[in-house]
Amino acid sequence: MCGIVGSVSTKTNIIPILLDGLKTLEYRGYDSAGLSYLKNSKLIINKVKGRVKELEKNIEKDAFSNIGIAHTRWATHGEVNETNAHPHNVGNITIVHNGIIENFSKLKHKLEEKGYKFKSSSDTEIAAGLLDYYYKKYENIDKTIQKFMKKVDGSYAICMMINNIPNTIYVIKKDSPLIIGTNKNTSYIASDVPAILKYTKNYYILEDYEYGKITANNITIYDKEGNILNKQLKEYQGSTLTSDKGIYEHYMLKEIMEQKTTIRKTINPYINNIDDLLKLPDLTKYERIDIIACGTAMHAGLAAKYLFEEYTNTKCEVFLASEYRYQNNFLNNKVLSIFISQSGETADTLAALKKVKENKCDTLGIVNVKESSIARILDKVLYTEAGTEIAVASTKAYTAQVALLSVLILAHAYRKKSIKEEKILKILEEFRAVTSILNPILEGTKTYENIAKEIYEKSDVFYIGRGLDYALAMEGSLKLKEISYIHSEAYAAGELKHGTISLITKNTPVFASATNKKINTKTISNLKEVTSRGAKCYLITDEDIQDNSFEILKIKKVSMFLKPLLTIIPYQLIAYYTAKFKNCDIDKPRNLAKSVTVE
Ligand code: G6P
Repeated sequence: MCGIVGSVSTKTNIIPILLDGLKTLEYRGYDSAGLSYLKNSKLIINKVKGRVKELEKNIEKDAFSNIGIAHTRWATHGEVNETNAHPHNVGNITIVHNGIIENFSKLKHKLEEKGYKFKSSSDTEIAAGLLDYYYKKYENIDKTIQKFMKKVDGSYAICMMINNIPNTIYVIKKDSPLIIGTNKNTSYIASDVPAILKYTKNYYILEDYEYGKITANNITIYDKEGNILNKQLKEYQGSTLTSDKGIYEHYMLKEIMEQKTTIRKTINPYINNIDDLLKLPDLTKYERIDIIACGTAMHAGLAAKYLFEEYTNTKCEVFLASEYRYQNNFLNNKVLSIFISQSGETADTLAALKKVKENKCDTLGIVNVKESSIARILDKVLYTEAGTEIAVASTKAYTAQVALLSVLILAHAYRKKSIKEEKILKILEEFRAVTSILNPILEGTKTYENIAKEIYEKSDVFYIGRGLDYALAMEGSLKLKEISYIHSEAYAAGELKHGTISLITKNTPVFASATNKKINTKTISNLKEVTSRGAKCYLITDEDIQDNSFEILKIKKVSMFLKPLLTIIPYQLIAYYTAKFKNCDIDKPRNLAKSVTVE
């Protein structure tokens, strides 16, 4: 969601550090940006609606400062404009904030009664007001922060400058990530580690209800009662973020192309032989698997559900984390809850995980970002090796999740003896050849570009499939709508005729995949139903089908465990080229953010 950067130094000019950090975090939220710093003890605030490059233009040339905080916003409270952008200053306090102050309206009312006047519609300005109020009342910053944490409901990672304390930044954290980095004579604050990696690999992670006092040479972290904590300094182990698009015009295309490597890297430790496969956790004691995630990660869970149920005879339920956290979960110690998350920071997924932990039930995670909030809480984590995904629309993280889940399920099938060893060895062999299996699809971009040319001016597109193909239709449809802004829906192929078929008119594009020989003929019949009503149909299949009424995109015949990987890439490429024909901002689609840290 939003991104936070802060820095305080003895000698170094922190303004380039802040701008650099914001640029790294911009893919997480990008509707407005702001930066504040002290210039000869005077507070300067620059804010713009739009991107960090606009902010950069607004900052005084040769600006120099040793202390500052900055923010890139994804609007929650208040429309996207300069006034609502962070930093927010009230009285002595200037803050940037990630998260949501849920009781902001009650707090606003109380502060207004005490004479406070607010300029924006942002909940963050109220937080700044409340901090200013307590600071004036107690004249003590520790007491101010402790009182603030007691009074505020919601989530917050706050980075704060105080007018009469010119060499110190304060931070406060609950439910939104925040880290503090350190290097000689300079300290750094960020919502995500990549923002400061250029300057340091050493950082502290703040946990909920902790706060910190940060000067250039000193970092002190306190618990909510004000006791000093002895925190462990971490060293970043992951890969550094590359801002290089290489030969590609967009990160999304680069990330689609990277999939042959990222899938292989993710599953590499498990696919050489059965011993390797059995390094994956033993799930045999569980009677039910729950998968909980959001967005594309949830779609990866839907593909896994099919494989769990079909090939291991294990009941598997998939939940949207935002729903799961408020419903009856029927948990017991025979249930394993699997959480899937690229960022490891998604607020709803994190909250659902905390709920399962409170119930003392077992948790396993499929996570891409090491040391992320979700990874730190899980009982056990299997990491995807997708590397940093920058395009907001997830591609390589999804296929890495699906591939890792597939081998996990294969290991489960081996232990349950639900698939013969001989067949498992063949599937492992296919996984080892995944790069060459995917190559023809990745090299055949022209086909997908041509399809995109046919659909980019359409207003509605449908995706259908049955079983595993339905899960893929959902992901294909999401890819198209999120980056090309074309309305699109995914339907179980048999369900279309129960209402939605009324939307099919002449040349409405309908995509289908039929990759399961048990039910392919059924899907093809459903496709016929829509072609008869004028739809223009495209079918992804591994079968030899001769039919001129739709365009056939042939994929290689492989095991069901690899099929999702082969089917989704054409959908990703079609979405990409469609958005390109429409001149959309492919890597940063409107209204979206990469890491959704509010519920
Ligand atoms: C956002 C992103 C999606 C992602 C979802 C879940 O909506 O735009 O690409 O699938 O969050 O994120 P996670 O980091 O938990 O996988």
